[in-house]
Amino acid sequence: MTAPRTTADGVLADRYGRVARDLRVSLTDKCNLRCTYCMPAEGLPWLAGPQLLTDEEIVRLVGVAVRRLGITEVRFTGGEPLIRPGLPGIVAAVAGMSPRPRISLTTNGIGLARLAPALRAAGLDRVNVSLDTLDRARFATLTRRDRHDDVLAGLTGAAAAGLTPVKINTVLMRGVNDDEAPELLRFALAHDYQLRFIEQMPLDAQHGWDRSSMVTADEILAALCAEFELRPDPAERGAAPAETWLVDGGPARVGVIASVTRPFCGDCDRTRLTADGQVRNCLFATDESDLRAALRAGADDEEMARRWRAAMWGKRAGHGIDDPTFLQPVRPMSAIGG
Ligand SMILES: C[S@@+](CC[C@H](N)C(=O)[O-])C[C@H]1O[C@@H](n2cnc3c(N)ncnc32)[C@H](O)[C@@H]1O
Ligand code: SF4
Repeated sequence: MTAPRTTADGVLADRYGRVARDLRVSLTDKCNLRCTYCMPAEGLPWLAGPQLLTDEEIVRLVGVAVRRLGITEVRFTGGEPLIRPGLPGIVAAVAGMSPRPRISLTTNGIGLARLAPALRAAGLDRVNVSLDTLDRARFATLTRRDRHDDVLAGLTGAAAAGLTPVKINTVLMRGVNDDEAPELLRFALAHDYQLRFIEQMPLDAQHGWDRSSMVTADEILAALCAEFELRPDPAERGAAPAETWLVDGGPARVGVIASVTRPFCGDCDRTRLTADGQVRNCLFATDESDLRAALRAGADDEEMARRWRAAMWGKRAGHGIDDPTFLQPVRPMSAIGG
């Protein structure tokens, strides 16, 4: 294997010619919901306080990524990022960086109605809100919390604050909410939200994922086509994880992130930083690179950038879910940052 690039202005390249431009930062592994496809009812052994990066450490590492490594998109996620008290300050610090990256947030929407104006004022550009059902009772079963109204209010508040386009992420589960695809799309169209379905991935803490029972992109599209006319979106997809379709002639669109049945690893432009300061070059990576230890040992920005480049150089060609040797990562989605 050729050595990674080590020039001071080197981007996050890998051996397969991909360059990471999109940084996903997990702000916490904790969450106020317990989605059944994500974590068990009792929650998980959360990271202890000293393990977590401080707000200042997060801003410093994002700064390294933006100023030295060519990152142009920063997305905050978790766990549930809205429960991190320092979120508006972190967003403001990142919005003040030059070059200024685009800044987005993936959230379950609880508390967003209240926080959206402050986040917008801090420099947040837009949000993705997760909503798997329009039925309040189903929501309570699926997330084990009766918070459906808060999520709907969060969507409304985000749009009112100008965090647009507001995107909705939906995971369909067989026998739970897989009959709702057309209704969810009607809801999204009516409110001018952009809906994206995400195939369920083997990233749940309980290791309960089963390929034979997951709802596939083909099934989702068949359900939508029964009620809508879908045409492939002529816009260039680039590194976007969602494949998109124009709905009833457009301009409205619907997306499907088919990580399992139509993997897009060849075009992946993402790098990830966990809440405890580990760089992951893939959701499904089995190893991590410890930037927190380097940072706390006094490494300078260029040393951090060098470590980050080295971590990305080792990115595998694909996630390998179909390989007989596939092993689910030890960290679940909620601890990596989705
Ligand atoms: C891990 S969550 C973190 C942010 C926030 N708590 C939320 O739910 O949006 C990010 C996204 O990952 C999705 N997700 C969680 N577990 C998943 C799984 N096993 N397969 C596919 N998507 C998953 C969620 O539905 C959500 O849209
Ligand atoms: S998907 Fe998001 S909201 Fe649901 S339990 Fe996981 S981290 Fe929490």
